[in-house]
This record gives sequence, structure tokens and C-alpha cells, in this order.
Amino acid sequence: MATIIANACLSPGCAKEARLQCPTCVKQGIHGSYFCSQDCFKSNWKGHKAVHKKTFRAPVVTENDYDPWPDFRYTGNLRAHRRTPRRAVPAHISRPDYAEDGNPRSEREMRGFTQIKVLEADEIAAMRDVCQLAREVLDEAARAIRVDVTADEIDRVVHEATIARDCYPSPLNYCGYPKSCCTSVNEIICHGIPDVRPLEDGDIVNVDVTCFKDGFHGDLNETFFVGRVDEGSRRLVEVAHECLRLGIDLVKPGERYRDIGNVIQKHAQSNGCSVVRTYCGHGIHRLFHTAPNVPHYAKNKAIGVMKPGHCFTIEPMISAGSWKDVTWPDDWTSATIDGKRSAQFEETLLVTKIGCEVLTRRRDHNGKPYFMTQ
Ligand code: MF3
Ligand code: CO
Ligand code: CO
Repeated sequence: MATIIANACLSPGCAKEARLQCPTCVKQGIHGSYFCSQDCFKSNWKGHKAVHKKTFRAPVVTENDYDPWPDFRYTGNLRAHRRTPRRAVPAHISRPDYAEDGNPRSEREMRGFTQIKVLEADEIAAMRDVCQLAREVLDEAARAIRVDVTADEIDRVVHEATIARDCYPSPLNYCGYPKSCCTSVNEIICHGIPDVRPLEDGDIVNVDVTCFKDGFHGDLNETFFVGRVDEGSRRLVEVAHECLRLGIDLVKPGERYRDIGNVIQKHAQSNGCSVVRTYCGHGIHRLFHTAPNVPHYAKNKAIGVMKPGHCFTIEPMISAGSWKDVTWPDDWTSATIDGKRSAQFEETLLVTKIGCEVLTRRRDHNGKPYFMTQ
């Protein structure tokens, strides 16, 4: 009885049964590329690989027929993708003043006001609580990050984890912002809006989480690796994290807010990186963004001296190329002007009598950021 060979080896003159498929063909949806052995595959590679040309490629399945701004010149490779509908917050969770109409009226009332609030003991306790809950939410987001997960899925995880802790996701409807966290990929500096683009091997993604509970906000972010990233991106992320640490090291009563930027820019520059100037750290407590304004660049004119009971963030955005930013037509997403990558880390801090308490600190892994423990 003749043996039926399901697939014969493609190698000329070799009629052996073949079970190995060319991996590139599998990826591109090209059928029938079988070889009997690695040897036959390798010796025919030169001729075979011609079938991998662009014209043979199956249509890309990752959805992006979405082109809302045909005239916008993107600065890098990242593109806007479709977004999912707004997520709901259960009625029993207490909301900040902007939750319904997007207008942070209490914050706007304080615009131009440079006096920094000194928190009372009960207010500090509430800040400790919400900041640690926000850290837990970021940890959940971190565990969800992998190749092919969408930023929208990260946003879903953040949203669910936030409401599970009886918190309101502070970004949601803040000045009309449509999602529960910010996800900033590659050349996005900050305020990237979660959409259905799947994360790709080699991407870096910053996830910025802010929770609101019992009248107080806690704000932090980290930049994560997706799969394996190149050496330059790894170093950029390290430098951004070092910049935050150096800033935090400076915090104690009597120091000037304006001096934080000097240590940060010095470190960024000596590593060939630049410091974003448009976005700054900020006071945070009952208001999401308030005095002090905390620039991360050198020779700034920030107002204020640190006193015990002050709460604020340091959140340096460090870019591999130019420090200049461009905002996408969605009026949120901030990209580098040259399309090079940017990384960021953020913590919410309390000035204490002797120095600084990192309210959002990671309690396990010796406080190391996620990218170091991945
Ligand atoms: N969490 C960001 C910060 O660090 C602010 C995000 S505001 C939003 O200040 F509306 F974009 F969510
Ligand atoms: Co912040
Ligand atoms: Co933040």
C-alpha cells in the first residue's frame, strides 16, 4: 500500500514527508511551505524567502482603519486607534467635583494662587491611604502588560482595580479626559489616551494612575517594557527613574522647589537625554493639580520652599532626543517633536520634619520599580 504523504518537502529533489513549516510563512498566512528538516529549510532559504515579499503578505489584522486627522503630521511611528466607550463608576463611589461636567471648578478657583497647603494629621492619613491604593492599582496594571495586550485593556484593568478599592479614577472626565488612566507609548511623553492598539514587542509604555478617595488624590506612574526592548530604550527608562530618585533625595524642609529641576536636568543631560519643559510636577491633595508647580528643568523660577505637611509630585519626563513636545489633535496626547522615545516615573511625596515620605512607594521588591523586577 502506498504511503500517503500529507506534505512533501519543498526542497527540489527531496520528496520526503515534511512537517516543519517555514515560520515566516506561518506568520504571513502563506500556506504549504513545508520542509522535512532544518537542513532542507536552510539550504533552500535563499530561494524560498522570495515568497515573503510584501505583495504576498496577508492583510494586517490589527485594527487601524481609524484616521481621524488626515492632515496631521505625526512625529513618529505611533498612530491613534479607535477608543472604546466611556466606563461607568458605581454610584456609591464618591466623586471629585469635575466628574459630571469635566470642570475642575475648585482647582480653577485656586489658579494663580501660589500658597502651598500644609496638611493636618487626618489629611495626611487620608493621603497615605489613597496613595497606597493607587500603588496597588498600578501594580495590577503592571501585571497585565505583555505583547499584544491593548492599552484599552490596561485601562479596563486600572478602572476595575480602582473601583474595587472604592476609589474614583481621577483622570476620568478631568477637563473632559475620556479614560481612567494615561498610557503613553514610545514617543508619547504623557497623557496618551488608551485605545485598541495592541502593544508590540520592544515598546515602552508609561501607565499613569491617579485615585481619588475620601476627598484626596494619589498620583503615580511607571514606564514598563513590553517584551524585549533595545539597549537605548532600556537606558532611557533607567535614566528617567534615576532622575526621579535624585529629585526625591533633595526633598526636605527648607529646600526650594526650584532646585529639583537643577539635579534632574544635570543627570539627564550628562546621559545624553533631555528634560520636557511643558509638563511639571504639582501639588496634590484635595485638588488633583495645584500649588506648587514643580518644573523638572534647570534654572526654573518655581515659587516656594518645602515645609512639613506639603504634598506634591515629582514626575520627570525624559526624552532621548529633543525636549520639545507636540500635542496630537485629540488635545491630550503629547509626543516628542522628533519622534524619539520619552520615559517618565512619578511618585506622590509628603514633606516630613526630617525629609520626605514617598506616599506612593512600592512596598515590596525593596521599592524597586517594576522594570527592574520583571
Ligand atoms: N496623572 C497625570 C499627572 O501626573 C495627570 C493626568 S490628567 C489626565 O499629573 F486628564 F490626563 F488624566
Ligand atoms: Co502628576
Ligand atoms: Co500622574
